[in-house]
Parts: sequence; structure tokens; C-alpha cells
Amino acid sequence: EMEAFISDLMSRMTLEEKIGQLNLLSSGWDVTGPRLQDNSKALIKEGKVGAIFNAYTAEYTHELQKMAVEKTRLGIPLLFGYDVIHGFRTIFPISLGEAASWDLAAIEKSARISAIEATAEGLHWTFAPMVDITRDPRWGRISEGAGEDVYLGMKIATARVRGYQGNDLSRVDTMLATAKHFAAYGQSQAGRDYHSTDMSERELWGTYLPPFKAALDAGVASVMTAFNDLNGIPATGNALLLNDILKGQWDFQGLVVTDYTSINEMVPHGFARDEKHAGELAINAGVDMDMQGSVFVSHLKGLVDEGKVSVVKIDRAVRRILEMKYRLGLFEDPYRYSNEARQQAAKKKPAFLEAARDVARKSMVLLKNEGQILPLKKQGISIAVIGPLGDSKQDMIGSWSAAGDRMDEPVSLLEGIRAKVGGDVVVHYAKGASYAFNDHDQSGFAEAMAIAEKSDVIIMAMGEKWDMTGEAASRTSLDMPGSQQALMEALHKIGKPMVLVLMNGRPLALNWADDNVNAILETWYAGTMGGHAIADILFGDYNPAGKLPVTFPRHVGQVPLYYNMKNTGRPYASDGAEQKYRSRYLNTLNDPLYPFGYGLSYTQFSYSEVILDRPSLGPKDVLTATINVANSGGYDGEEVVQLYIQDVTGSVTRPVKELKGFQKIHLAVGEHKNVSFKISAKDLSFYRQDMSYGVEAGDFKLYIGTNSMDVKEARFTLTNSGT
Ligand code: IFM
Repeated sequence: EMEAFISDLMSRMTLEEKIGQLNLLSSGWDVTGPRLQDNSKALIKEGKVGAIFNAYTAEYTHELQKMAVEKTRLGIPLLFGYDVIHGFRTIFPISLGEAASWDLAAIEKSARISAIEATAEGLHWTFAPMVDITRDPRWGRISEGAGEDVYLGMKIATARVRGYQGNDLSRVDTMLATAKHFAAYGQSQAGRDYHSTDMSERELWGTYLPPFKAALDAGVASVMTAFNDLNGIPATGNALLLNDILKGQWDFQGLVVTDYTSINEMVPHGFARDEKHAGELAINAGVDMDMQGSVFVSHLKGLVDEGKVSVVKIDRAVRRILEMKYRLGLFEDPYRYSNEARQQAAKKKPAFLEAARDVARKSMVLLKNEGQILPLKKQGISIAVIGPLGDSKQDMIGSWSAAGDRMDEPVSLLEGIRAKVGGDVVVHYAKGASYAFNDHDQSGFAEAMAIAEKSDVIIMAMGEKWDMTGEAASRTSLDMPGSQQALMEALHKIGKPMVLVLMNGRPLALNWADDNVNAILETWYAGTMGGHAIADILFGDYNPAGKLPVTFPRHVGQVPLYYNMKNTGRPYASDGAEQKYRSRYLNTLNDPLYPFGYGLSYTQFSYSEVILDRPSLGPKDVLTATINVANSGGYDGEEVVQLYIQDVTGSVTRPVKELKGFQKIHLAVGEHKNVSFKISAKDLSFYRQDMSYGVEAGDFKLYIGTNSMDVKEARFTLTNSGT
């Protein structure tokens, strides 16, 4: 039915009208919100626009849709896209923070709520999830993904796609998701944004592509190309990536959109002679829609006339776009998403705010808690909240915060603490330091010291300003910017208990804090309800259970540092005698400060030894690994039990460990549980020396533990025949 409808429609379209469908333009903004420039309005009426992004609200999208439906010859409705990354109106923690929850249901729910809010305001399509694996915290966009690990990244990609798209795109509260940025953008050289990537085929297939494949398997409707060139070919003109892998081998039927002006950017890349040439390269490589570059709309007709681009190519792209409009139900009712009543009902729903608070708490990672200084008492103490992030709203919601309110709604840390303790705790606040780069201003130190002197506990709210992460936010240092470090050191001299509440979008180098402060809580940018969520943890109403989805190095010079590195031919053991000619640094350890998967709880979990139900595994067998986990501390709590596997010898060198499973369990005080993981041969597959994907018989180590370093070990053998 859909095919016949679209074929009929396309048979009535002129080439210009077809090319118009491939054009995606941004709405601008003025003080009242999103507004379109007059010339773009004229283009819509001429049928030269297929989709608009950055436009929202039921009224505004309705107005634009009306232009397309009533003023163009064929009345084809527009598609409305937007970067709904970690919330639309209700803002959830940044994506890296959500990943730290290791809670797939919570992550899916966050995307679901985002879609409910966004679709009520006319949106059909989000440019999320970002599924780029990232191992370089210098890159500001590390904050937008799920961290460094392939397995976790795949699970989270699946959860997010399901959350946005639901299981039926024709429902008015589901929207198209986009897996981005295809491909390998997370490896931008030197952590500099928009930079080149160059990697082996094995690395590409083994590490960077799997989360995209997972998103496809979950039914993702669109894929966005990347700004980077990969092995010498810009992703947007990369026929190997788009035509061969994505649309060929993986049979992707959805729509491929560029990242912003990445077609035009193939000229400065030195890949296209001029924009027309860039358009030719992009459409022929497999791009369907041109975001903001206007290259297709300006040049495709000429390219067809010259025989450089075939009409068949254009038809294929148009069909993919029209199919999405059809699946969304826009041909039945172009205005069905722009519904003022739904918009009103969806706004600021208490249940959504409650969910945002819940996900925020789940995303926080307790990095240190010396002497169980946390949780704090809710009465009879005085507290000094100090730092530029202590009473900030805008920072709380981080970058890419969509239509989220920045000025009033987000709950600052100070507000969260005050709401929690009422009049029972004396709370002082001083900004104290600056978090701006190169601003060493110490004029606020005296005030901060004064309130610290008269308080029992110092809570330092420090980290990065919200726009130091996200797009175009690379750093060469992982230190705390501005005068924050100096203030921490000054406060330390007072000798009072110190708690560092971090807000940041990338791993920071926290050696000094780890050595000197009593407790450290990583809160990322926690979203609209951030202040309440942090207070819930600081005062013991919630027991933290987040685990790092990315390694925290000791020093930026260790980057890239990730848990599943290779062993090298000269591995270095950090204990024992001097070992100069080993793979190591002279001035720092190889180990991270906090490893992947790390995070403390207010309670303690103890792990038994691992029990395997069989010593070996054949191609058709299933091995069960079981461990007993006990809550041996004083609080009920949750623990993420993690399974890692090492293939000891292979036809190519293998990582020292790879995450293969995890389970988040709840244990009451004194309770213990058996946790079992099932492993079959296919879980042990990898890209072998000849790049075929499969297993190799031999010895394996299996680890289960509380993080990627602190594990219990067992061994098994993979055999060629069944047992
Ligand atoms: O979706 C984003 C992308 O991640 C970076 N460039 C701009 C796009 C649209 O805003």
C-alpha cells in the first residue's frame, strides 16, 4: 500500500520537486523562540524544502506545515527534526551520565518521555542517539555518547532507539531516531572536533561499527553521516560506508542525512573541487538528505543534466524520505503532531519530572567516600556550599538541552540541598572561584573561606561550565578550569571534611582531589531535577549505584586510555621491582585513576569465587558462570555485577578484557544472591586475522566483579567440537 502510494506520488513529481524533498533547512531563532527566515518560507512554498529542523511548538510547526500543504503544487508535508538528545522540555542527565546508570529500562524511559514531549510540539524526528564509541576525553562530544565500550554502547543504542521510536512509528507519540555520526567520529584525532580519523578495518568493524548495527537491528529510522574523513575519505562522500556497508551489507532501508553542511565541507577537506562536485560525490555515495548545505537543491538538477547523477539515484533518496513521512502518518493528517492540547498536557508533567530525578540519581557515580563521610546528617550540622556550580541552573542541564528552560526550572544544587534539609541544617553559599578558562581570579576566596570556617562540612560544587563539552568543545587539559583548583587547595588548609560534587561532561584528571578530599560524587550535568537528585544522594535518601562508562585517567597524557586495551609484548606490572624496558611511563602509572565500570555504594558488596558449570565449551554449548554477591554493609543498595572475558591467544592480539554482560541487582542489608551469566561460543566471536567474524578454539579467562579491575577470575576452554 505504502509503495503504491509513493510510486503514484513520485510519478506526478517533477525533478525539481523531487530534489526539494532532499533539502533539510534549519529554522532560526529570535527572542520569542524558533522563527524561519523569509527566504526559507519562500522556498517551502516553492516546494524546495522537504524537512525543517530546529522548529518546534504546535503553533509554529502547524504554520510551516500549512505552507507546505496548502501552497505547494502537490502538498507534500514537511518533516520536522530537532536535536532531542537528553530530553525535550524535561531535561534528563547528559547521555554519558545516563550511560553511567547501566540501567537500560531507565535510559529507554528517558528517551520515551523525550519523544512524548517532542511529538506533542510538532516534532517527528530526533538527531539521537549518538552511538559513537569514544576513548578520548579531550573530545567534547564524549558527553553525548555512551562512553568507551562496545557492548554497553550497543545495549544503550538499542534502548534509546526503542525509547524514541516505540514499536509503532504511526503512533503520534513516537518519533524517528537517528544513529549518528556514521562513522568513527569518536576517534577524531587528538580529540579535536571535526578532525580526521584513520584506523584499521578491524578496529572499525570491531569497535566503531557495532553500535550502529545494534541501532539498525532495533529498527532505527535514520542515520547521520559524520564530519570526519575516515581513512582519507570524508564520511559524507564515503561510498564504502554508505552504499556498501550501510545500505548494502546491512540492508538499511531508512534515510541517510548529512551532518549539517558536511557536503559543502568536502571542499575544504580537499576531496571535492567545488560544491557541485561535493553534491555529486555525496548523492552517489548514498546520502539521501542534505542538512543545511543547500548543495542538492542548488546543483542536483545540473548534475543530472550533465549525466553525473542518475535520476534513479535521486528517486531512491526521495522514496526513503517519503516512506518516513508515510510511516509517520503525515499523508493522512499532516498536522497530527502539532496538537496544542497535547502540547499543554505534556508540558511539565510531574511524572516526567519524577522520572528525570530518578534517572539523575541513577546516573551519579560515587568515586570516593573515605570514612563513610557520606551520607550527611539531615539535622544539627552546618554546611558550606562553595563553587561556581553550586547555584547554577544553566549548567545543571548541560549542552544540547533542546527546549529545556535554562533560567528558572532547573533545580540548582543549593536549591536541592535547601529543599531537602529545610531549617534543620544551616546552609551557607559562596561562589568562591571562577570556572572560566584562564581566569585565575581569587577575589571570592575570602568569602568562601569565611563560610567554610563556620561550617561542619564543605561541599564543593566544581567542574566544567556547561558549554565546555558537547560540539566544538575540545580541551587539551583534563584539569579543573579557572581558579577552582586553587580554591580547593586553600579550603583544604582549613582542615574540615570536604565533599567534591562534580559537574562535567568528560573524565577529569582528579589526582589531587582523590588524594585530599574525603568524598567525590560525579554528577555529570544532571538535568532539570539535578539539585534534588544530588541532595537525595548527599543526605542518604538514595544509595548511589552508578558505574563509570568511561575510564578516568590520571593524566591527559595517558589518553587514549580504556579498559580493554591490548597487553603488549612487554606488559608492565605496577608492583614489584624496577622494570625500565617495559610498556610504561616514567612519571606516572599505566593504570587509570578510576577504571571503567567503577563506582562505590554507601554499602559494601562482597563477591564469592566464580563457579563454572563446565570446564569447556563447544560450538553449540552454553556455559553458566555463577557468583554469589552479598550486601555486607549497612545500607540497602544496588550493584552492577559485570562479566568480562579474555581470549588469551588469537590469530590477532586480543584485548585484556572485554565486557560481555552485566546485571544490576538490588540487595537489602545482609541479603545475598547468586548471579549467573550464560556464555555461548557466539559471545566469543571477533574479527579474525582474515577479517572473517567468528571464534577460535583455545583458552579463555572469565572475570566477574564490581568494576573492570576488581574482579574474580575463572578459566575455561573453547573446543572445536561439542561436549
Ligand atoms: O545533530 C547535530 C550533529 O550532532 C552535529 N551538527 C549539527 C547537527 C544538527 O543540529
